[in-house]
Amino acid sequence: MNAGARAAEQLGRMTFEEKIDLLSGVENMYTKGVPRLGVRRLRMADASMGLRDEVIEATAFPASIALAATWSRDRARDYGAAVGEEFRTAGIDVVLGPGVNLYRVHQCGRNFEYLGEDPWLAASLVVPYIRGVQEKGVAATVKHFVCNNTDWHRCVSNSIVDERTLRELYFLPFEAAVRDASVLCMMTSYNLVNGEYAGESRRLLSDLVLDEWRFGGLIMSDWGGLWNPAPAITSGLHLEMPEAKAFDAAAIRTMIEEGVISQADVDARALRLLELTARIEELQLEIPNPNRGRIEEHAGVALEVAREGIVLLKNGEGVLPLEAGTTIAAVGPAVDPTPTSGGGAAAVKPVDPVSIAEAVIAVCPDTCLLREADGGTDEALSKADAALVCVGFNGEREREGCDRPYALPADQVELIRRAAATARRTIVVVVAGGGVEMTDWADEVDAILHLWYPGEIGARALAEILYGEVNPSGKLPVSIERRSRERASSPNYLPSGAELYEKPDYVSQDPPPYEVRYAEGVFAGYRHLDALEIEPLFAFGHGLSYTSYTYGHLRVEPEGERLVVTFTVTNDGDRDGKETAQVYLKPPAPLADSVPRRLVGFAKHLVPSGNSVEYRVEVSPRAIASWVEGGWRRPAGRYTVEVGASSRDVRLEAEVELAEARIKTDGRVL
Ligand code: BGC
Repeated sequence: MNAGARAAEQLGRMTFEEKIDLLSGVENMYTKGVPRLGVRRLRMADASMGLRDEVIEATAFPASIALAATWSRDRARDYGAAVGEEFRTAGIDVVLGPGVNLYRVHQCGRNFEYLGEDPWLAASLVVPYIRGVQEKGVAATVKHFVCNNTDWHRCVSNSIVDERTLRELYFLPFEAAVRDASVLCMMTSYNLVNGEYAGESRRLLSDLVLDEWRFGGLIMSDWGGLWNPAPAITSGLHLEMPEAKAFDAAAIRTMIEEGVISQADVDARALRLLELTARIEELQLEIPNPNRGRIEEHAGVALEVAREGIVLLKNGEGVLPLEAGTTIAAVGPAVDPTPTSGGGAAAVKPVDPVSIAEAVIAVCPDTCLLREADGGTDEALSKADAALVCVGFNGEREREGCDRPYALPADQVELIRRAAATARRTIVVVVAGGGVEMTDWADEVDAILHLWYPGEIGARALAEILYGEVNPSGKLPVSIERRSRERASSPNYLPSGAELYEKPDYVSQDPPPYEVRYAEGVFAGYRHLDALEIEPLFAFGHGLSYTSYTYGHLRVEPEGERLVVTFTVTNDGDRDGKETAQVYLKPPAPLADSVPRRLVGFAKHLVPSGNSVEYRVEVSPRAIASWVEGGWRRPAGRYTVEVGASSRDVRLEAEVELAEARIKTDGRVL
């Protein structure tokens, strides 16, 4: 009997009380089973940077935003598969991730758990990630649906967003997770969207996700994220976590008596959990359990992700890579210990964390490492060949349940400037879950690297890059503006007079609801900067290498409704390297409300020194389309296809004439 038939048969044998009981979880991380019928409980755990559990040993992977910075579908798949294997080995059935809320403001305390500012990049990476997880016989949960783009009093923030912006930006990675990756679970978010709680919105859940996208999996609430029983149950949501609050049995019975819902509605919701349980059991029979303890290779996966995700933002006069035997003054709060993760549900307790100080010595034992304790900061800085200034945030300051400032703490900025004034060369390493303000010191220093949150072993990748053992290939999944106000969405996202950082607030509804207006619409991130011709400090897609690439031979050919873009990338330098080439599309002029350019595809390949590699990027019809009057439409006209090393470093251009088309999204988004 297949999973669906088995679940239906089980439902047929259940009492009504048992069915109601299945609509909520228990013991924080379990679904309820039906022991009488042999239906087992499912165990869940977080998720964003690996398996989070107080007891079980797990690999702390680099943060999701570091994965986004790899721009690599292969790394995403490896990451997902490794996480899936660790869950499976530990007997946990449901991964409470990945998170795909787009990076809207730098301040969001959970940006590190997400995949950057661009919907197409996030969608392209979340699909292989989910496939990787689910191929190991555990369910992935795409979260938090939707518009949970800040964490400041997240349970009372009301995201006001127009339909086109929802469709083209914020829904897109979720839709791809459903349609292209057949994700098994979805988690709703705490906030309101256009006046309704996301978990209580029939429009979002029943009409959109279940009916339009034909999601066949299970929709669960975020933990304690339902408040109003009637809209919660009529929204179509299947499972309240972690326990019955809105889905209290007495309340459900009353709603049936009052005709708010029918018994058939309860059946339909209970059936989803039975189907998920049966499906997971089926998968686990098909896929052998790796059944090993801590899986050694996963440190290797984590290391590869870090190697490809660290972004070399600046390398003045080729100061990097360093030569062996360099005397380094390693200063700043992130030198040792180096924060591995942001805080909250994502924080995996690392098994064997490596700090930057340890990694530098491990990779290059000839290094003479001066620390502030050896004679004071100024002495270390003036004696060294180079200062390595390691700054940023940590899991206390950047975390779930609150937001953090764009600017670094003043004492860190002061330290950077002191190093720049004293040391022969200054290399700044930023440890943070997103962009930080660098404008006041970026010109004064020689090199800048973004490490994100590196997990337990990412500091080693940093040291390998510092010494040239690894050629950096990460590129920014976000724009880094000179000032926070230049980001379209940053100003005014807090109620006036509100203080940014407070004690983390997980589920309180204390302050009155406040509106977060997504007034920038589809002009978010780099699209806003391009439209207003604002020069960012570091552009979306930017990232340096120790070699240089030339792009050539661009061809753009329509293939049905898709565009096939081919070109060559030649490595002109003397080091092998991996290059992410990005394909942007400029709509025909003049389309008044179109963004100047949008990412529609990308590819990353190893290009050996002195060689050329042919790149091929297939552009999906959905990447070209816009949401117009209730449907996906591709306006007719002459489009410009741009191929570049970043959104501001376009190397090739071609024009293509496209006819008007209505785009149907049947099977897939990508
Ligand atoms: C977070 C979710 C997490 C859940 C379970 C919530 O507070 O928002 O991301 O999966 O807790 O730990």
